[in-house]
Amino acid sequence: MGLEQDTRFWDRAAAKYAASALADPDGYEQTLAATRNHLSGKTVLEFGCGTGTTAIKLAPDARRYVATDISPAMLVIARDRASAEGGSKAEFVVAIPENAPFESASFDVAIGFNILHLVKARPDMLRALHRLLKPGGLLITKTPCLGELGFLPRVMIGMVVPIMQAIGKAPYVASFSSSQLEAEMNAAGFDILERARHGSKPKPEARVYLVARKR
Ligand SMILES: C[S@@+](CC[C@H](N)C(=O)[O-])C[C@H]1O[C@@H](n2cnc3c(N)ncnc32)[C@H](O)[C@@H]1O
Repeated sequence: MGLEQDTRFWDRAAAKYAASALADPDGYEQTLAATRNHLSGKTVLEFGCGTGTTAIKLAPDARRYVATDISPAMLVIARDRASAEGGSKAEFVVAIPENAPFESASFDVAIGFNILHLVKARPDMLRALHRLLKPGGLLITKTPCLGELGFLPRVMIGMVVPIMQAIGKAPYVASFSSSQLEAEMNAAGFDILERARHGSKPKPEARVYLVARKR
């Protein structure tokens, strides 16, 4: 799947995504609380912000908060949500890190939740985020690591997802472990500072929260 196909997929998915319930509200609250610890006085870039839920919640904690996504339809909903809540400090911009219209070293913190497993050019994205961060800047991510699921769920995903993709009902999805993800971050120039598993579901180990620092 290329970027154009990804964009079309996520544009089509936007309304349904906006209407879907949070998979794990308790885990999400843990993630927000851990992330807020790093935002005071900071300039923040969120990538893959979707319909803006996280941006609207976290923007008040930052000095400046720029929320980006590949999908214009997602951002239409995000802006509507922000207006419905009386406005938000978050700025919503259609962009991906690799071609984002920002100078190098513009941001103190980059945030990406539930996105890195959906990106084929993940090493390129990680290098772009490294470039956009100031020295010592933080990359904060939460990522489902499908490579850590049990045998049966992995077999099911391996059989069902390609069929769904073929008919345009599923996006690109990568399967990797948290240690593989950490290795990719290391290779892109980051050191891992924090590792956590936020979640209350039976298999919280499948989603890893990482705080990494630009070397
Ligand atoms: C599963 S949603 C997650 C949205 C939000 N971060 C959340 O946690 O609810 C994935 C988001 O990533 C966006 N996305 C997919 N591929 C992308 C890419 N290559 N660059 C930037 N955003 C992308 C999609 O448009 C979608 O909004």
